[in-house]
Amino acid sequence: MVRFELVEDGRGIESVAHLAREIWTEHYTPIIGQEQVQYMLENFQSVWAINDQIQKGVLYYLLSYMETKAGYLALEPSGQDKQAKLSKIYVRSDLRGLGLGRKALQQAINVCRQLSVEILWLTVNKNNKGAIDFYERTGFIKTGTIVQNIGEGFVMDDYKMIIKISP
Ligand SMILES: CC(C)(COP(=O)(O)OP(=O)(O)OC[C@H]1O[C@@H](n2cnc3c(N)ncnc32)[C@H](O)[C@@H]1OP(=O)(O)O)[C@@H](O)C(=O)NCCC(=O)NCCS
Repeated sequence: MVRFELVEDGRGIESVAHLAREIWTEHYTPIIGQEQVQYMLENFQSVWAINDQIQKGVLYYLLSYMETKAGYLALEPSGQDKQAKLSKIYVRSDLRGLGLGRKALQQAINVCRQLSVEILWLTVNKNNKGAIDFYERTGFIKTGTIVQNIGEGFVMDDYKMIIKISP
C-alpha cells in the first residue's frame, strides 16, 4: 500500500518537482510568503535543481500510497561524520494524518542504518508548528537555531533538530 522509490531518472524528478510545487505553495505561502516560496521552488525544487542535488549525492525517494504519488523525502548523507540531513519530508495535504509521514521518516532511518549513520538532523522553520509537533512526536529534539541567508534578501530562520539512530 505504501511504497518508496529511489528517484533516479527524469520522470521521477518531474514527479518530485510537481509535488513540491503543489505542497510548498499550499503549505509555505502563509508562513514565508509567495515571493520566497517561488524563489525557493525555482532554486531548490525545480527539475534542474533536484537533478543537480541527486548528482551530488542527495537521495530522493518518492512516496506512493495506494498507487498515488503522495509525497517525497530527501536524505543528505555527509559521508564522514556518521551524520545525515533529512532535507525534505513532505506529504500531500489531503493524505496527512494517515501515518505516511511516520513511514517516510522510518524509510529515512532505514537508509541511515544501511549507511551506518548515527545522527539524523534537520532544520525546520520556527513558524512551521505542525512539522515541529510531528518531529517531536516522532522522537526529534531541538538542539539550537540556524539562520541562513539564501540569497536575494531571503532568510531561513530555523530550529535544528536531531534524532539518534540506534544500530
Ligand atoms: C509533517 C508531515 C510530513 C507529517 O506527515 P503526516 O503523514 O501528516 O504524519 P503522520 O500521520 O505520520 O503523523 C505521525 C505522528 O505525528 C503527529 N503529527 C503529525 N502532524 C501533526 C501536526 N500538524 N500537529 C501535531 N501532531 C502531528 C501525529 O499525530 C502522529 O502521532 P502518533 O503517530 O503518535 O499518533 C506532513 O504534515 C507535511 O507534509 N507537512 C507539510 C510540509 C512540512 O512542513 N514538512 C516538513 C518540512 S521541515
